[in-house]
Amino acid sequence: MLEHLKDHPADKILELMQLYREDPRAEKVDLGVGVYKDAEGRTPVMRAVKSAEKRLWEVQDTKSYVGLIGDPAFNSAMRGLILGAAGGSDRLASAATPGGTGAVRQAFELVRLANPSVRVFVSDPTWPNHLTILKYLGIETVPYRYFDAASRGVDFDGMMADLKAARPGDVVLLHGCCHNPTGANLSAGQWQDVADLLLETGALAMVDIAYQGFGDGLDADAYGVRLLADRLPEMLIAASCSKNFGVYRERTGILIGLSADAKAAKTTQGNLAFLNRQNYSFPPDHGARLVTMILEDPALRAEWEAELEDVRTGMLGLRQNLASELRKRTNSDRFDFVAAHRGMFSRLGASPEQVLAMRTSHGIYMVGDSRINIAGLNAKTVPILAEAMVAAGV
Ligand code: LMR
Repeated sequence: MLEHLKDHPADKILELMQLYREDPRAEKVDLGVGVYKDAEGRTPVMRAVKSAEKRLWEVQDTKSYVGLIGDPAFNSAMRGLILGAAGGSDRLASAATPGGTGAVRQAFELVRLANPSVRVFVSDPTWPNHLTILKYLGIETVPYRYFDAASRGVDFDGMMADLKAARPGDVVLLHGCCHNPTGANLSAGQWQDVADLLLETGALAMVDIAYQGFGDGLDADAYGVRLLADRLPEMLIAASCSKNFGVYRERTGILIGLSADAKAAKTTQGNLAFLNRQNYSFPPDHGARLVTMILEDPALRAEWEAELEDVRTGMLGLRQNLASELRKRTNSDRFDFVAAHRGMFSRLGASPEQVLAMRTSHGIYMVGDSRINIAGLNAKTVPILAEAMVAAGV
């Protein structure tokens, strides 16, 4: 029977990780997968996570099951982190998931349960895994314009024009902050316009927020998601702790549903528990427990927020350095968008041939659509990337 299985096309981001590993050049530069790296190229365990792990080792006396939606304390701490007071509390439902990808997957399954012919509007471009999961689940996708290739900013007029076609029963997938792969984000005023349009069309908003704290700060990055939660009758939020808590391999995420009223929220909650049971039963607990301990303990939380802020400002500094290196080398401001983008990624606008040329000549690994992970750079490699871009004619 297994001989009937077919090969699947490789995931472009994971394939790049492998290519980088196999490159013997010592000076190679990894700007591929979205994993934070410090100036020495390490992905450290965050200080607050380390302290929480130590404390957990001392106090944890069982590894028995927790519950289908995970620990209620994790759910409530994460709702607070993402939403603050937005959306109230009696209309919310949530469940812990294996990472942000788990939350995205459960969200797509949930909307398909609610409407088997659901269409999901996705930004063009979006995180490639959004598209492959949707395809795997047999859900129709409708791309909406998002990235303006000339300015490398948001094509907001195009986006709004395309989203007008959404109807009740459709889902509009939005990136909460730090758009992946472009780094181009909506302004506060644009979020307001998107909220108006969602109310007008009646489509369901789904926000994927995987980089809260990496853009303009923990609260500023949640501006859009909180605004929608305050203004819309219903929405879904898929959130990840992989990046902002650095707990990638622990698979820590959450799916939050906002329903029209408390009665509907109870049914949403039941569906989230049902989907967890069908797909993996109990969600992973270790990372979620660490996150809860950090968010609930003022000292650990302060330590985590301080380290996250260093990570964020470090990436902003790298953006500014890269923009100014490119200014110097090209005698123009056409790469200033790098400093205006936010989060871990920027799409440079290089062609696939130029991306390959930079890999061949300078050992620089970026995703084929010219997405770079800013955190993969350091003071030494910023000028190398700038030089490679100019040499490749970007
Ligand atoms: C990325 O976009 O590089 C990250 O979200 C990691 C992944 O799983 O693709």
